[in-house]
Amino acid sequence: MRSGYFISVGVPGLLVVVAAAGLARSAIAQGAPPSLDEINPPVANCNVTPDTTPRGSATPTPITSALLTSGQPCQQVVNITGLFGNNSLANRQRGFDFYSWLTFIAMNSPADGMTTIGKGTMPGGDAKTIWEDLQNYRPLANVMLKDGMRPDWGTRIVPDACKPLDKPEGQKFIFQLGEEAFNQPFKTGPLIDQDGNYALFDILMNRPMFSYVQSKGLYSKKGQQAFNEGVEFPHGSNPTTKDGKAVPGQMGAIMLKVSYRILDPVKNKDIISQFHTSDALIYFPGPPATKEGPACVEKKLGLVGFHVGHKTNFAPQWVWTSFEHVSNVPDETEIKSGNLLKRYNFFSAKCVGCADNATPPKPWDPSVSLKFSTAFRSQVVRKTMLPAPVLKEVEQFNTSFRAILKGTVWENYMLLATQWPSEFDSKVDPLGAPAPTYLANSTLETFSQGRVPLASSSCMACHGNAVSFQHARPIDPKDIKGFNQSDFTFTLEKAQ
Ligand code: HEC
Repeated sequence: MRSGYFISVGVPGLLVVVAAAGLARSAIAQGAPPSLDEINPPVANCNVTPDTTPRGSATPTPITSALLTSGQPCQQVVNITGLFGNNSLANRQRGFDFYSWLTFIAMNSPADGMTTIGKGTMPGGDAKTIWEDLQNYRPLANVMLKDGMRPDWGTRIVPDACKPLDKPEGQKFIFQLGEEAFNQPFKTGPLIDQDGNYALFDILMNRPMFSYVQSKGLYSKKGQQAFNEGVEFPHGSNPTTKDGKAVPGQMGAIMLKVSYRILDPVKNKDIISQFHTSDALIYFPGPPATKEGPACVEKKLGLVGFHVGHKTNFAPQWVWTSFEHVSNVPDETEIKSGNLLKRYNFFSAKCVGCADNATPPKPWDPSVSLKFSTAFRSQVVRKTMLPAPVLKEVEQFNTSFRAILKGTVWENYMLLATQWPSEFDSKVDPLGAPAPTYLANSTLETFSQGRVPLASSSCMACHGNAVSFQHARPIDPKDIKGFNQSDFTFTLEKAQ
């Protein structure tokens, strides 16, 4: 069945049919530790249907509740023809956006691995999610340890200051505060919500990504210095047999960046049920990372932003997915038309003369109260960054997917778009011609929204600049792969 599907690659019109079974898997297995199947087990139901089926059909896959349990895609499956006729770029964008929605649903399903998303026991059917379970994802602070110690997959790290609050034991999400937890990339500034609290950011990785870091010794500066290969994380694959039958695929390296706002159970009681929440222990390690500490405080966090980077077959530059809460901020057109919600997390219609998307005054250094030191509140507006047809296509997906999540906390989240390499094997552009050109999340790239060449947010362009500082391998300017020494992640820079 599946051999009929095309996976598009490179320039529009150039196609590869994935027919040979297990090709991609054996490519991953080379050079990896022997227990790969344990680290990165084959996944039976990750071979997603493309959004248009069969090949070339203009009838998209219906968006029904069946998709709530269809599983996480091991890679995108996209057609170059479909709803948008012969517009390959548009059809593939839609395929990637479909992949992103399925990814979001699967990753945010309850951690027990059995309950359907939105059917948890907390208000709005909320529950601890797959990515909040340490069996599946690890926060970066648990990977890059003090003095470059070797991290261990099984261990939950509870700082001493948090131990008295860790009740019931093992249940709370531990959040370690450092610069990146409250300041946006390259220290461009914090984001302050309408209640005057700092927004918080965290980074996590899945087991295939963790295992690569661990087995190659990339968790320490010393290990990075000794490492003399190119950094190449494993990629997801979606193999089929010769006659087109789906066989179990494998997840690639997945990294996450999430943003939260603090919710006060009393003050915010009317809106709390609109957010996915986590009861978190926030650890302040003390100077130099934080001005106060060591200390630990307990907070209820509401999810407001969700970035996923997944390295997949035919996307060696990774696939970049971005979601956010629907009541974060209005966009430019909503402001012009006055079509505003009653309240936003990071915008106030009542604020007269507030500059849009302005960075807060310094100092940027939260005390354990996590309250900003002045009366400043972020006044954020979502800038128009996507070409109109992409915006429309994403809006349609959001309407349909939010409808199948109706009545759950998850109906309050929307896809911004997916950025993906439209020519992954380009000989001239190591970024693989990112499509769309720009993408930003109002909570995670607040200050670099827009469409200004070289300045505005492009996930792939900015992450393409990531280098592991300790890398021993000299860059050969002629080697197009040498361009990206740390395979699009900033995580390796955090090694001690
Ligand atoms: C201006 C540069 C820049 C842009 C644009 C950018 N990022 Fe990042 N991103 C960073 C930095 C730097 C970090 C590391 C944490 C930090 O310093 O805030 C990071 C962290 C991440 C992480 C965690 C893994 C890692 O590499 O640390 C993910 C996932 C991520 N970003 C996704 C995205 C997505 C999706 C987009 C586009 C919508 C995007 N980023 C746009 C700079 C950027």
